[in-house]
Amino acid sequence: MLVTLEGLDGSGKTTVWEALGNEYPDAVFTTEPTGSWYGDAVRRSIDDDDADPVAELFLYTADHAAHLSRTIRPALDEGRLVISDRYVDSRYAYQGAALAGIVDRPLEYVRGVHLPWTREPDLTLYLDVDPSTGAARSGATNKFEQVEYLAAVHENYERLVESDPGRFVRIDATRSPEAVIESVENVLASTLDERS
Ligand code: TYD
Repeated sequence: MLVTLEGLDGSGKTTVWEALGNEYPDAVFTTEPTGSWYGDAVRRSIDDDDADPVAELFLYTADHAAHLSRTIRPALDEGRLVISDRYVDSRYAYQGAALAGIVDRPLEYVRGVHLPWTREPDLTLYLDVDPSTGAARSGATNKFEQVEYLAAVHENYERLVESDPGRFVRIDATRSPEAVIESVENVLASTLDERS
């Protein structure tokens, strides 16, 4: 089963992902951007304030394709539980916002690029914080973390949650890390129970 963690910068995804590592020691824990050279290219682009948004979409997408073939699919084929800190919805939400004014219906465009070949998550835990909390917590250090941009990303996440309520579970991530971790662990445990 493939579980993904999504949310704005400053939503606490990485803290939750680390906590799940103790709870599910046999699961495969992975991230996007990945640690591969494709992920390195993505991180160079994140640090470049003049990066072209279309070029950046395809760097992230290349990283995702390699992530799928090298890590995700082999682990799922072995029957492992896979937990990814960010996955396709980060592209739909973030590049869907970055490409506004460049392509028509950017969120749909970015989804369309992925749909023929990606693997949808079975469960997506959406750590919901408002854009100003996210920007304040993340320190707004890179170009993606500005509050106006995060507001557009938040709106895209809302559209995604609305369009696929069976896959997304919204977690109120404005609470303490302990409370957020507890909610996530409860949702994950009950989903795993249902599927076993
Ligand atoms: P991430 O490593 O998750 O940063 P953090 O741990 O600080 O949340 O992601 C880095 C940045 O890249 C983040 O601002 C979100 C952005 N991003 C995209 O715009 N598209 C994507 O597909 C991914 C995976 C990340």
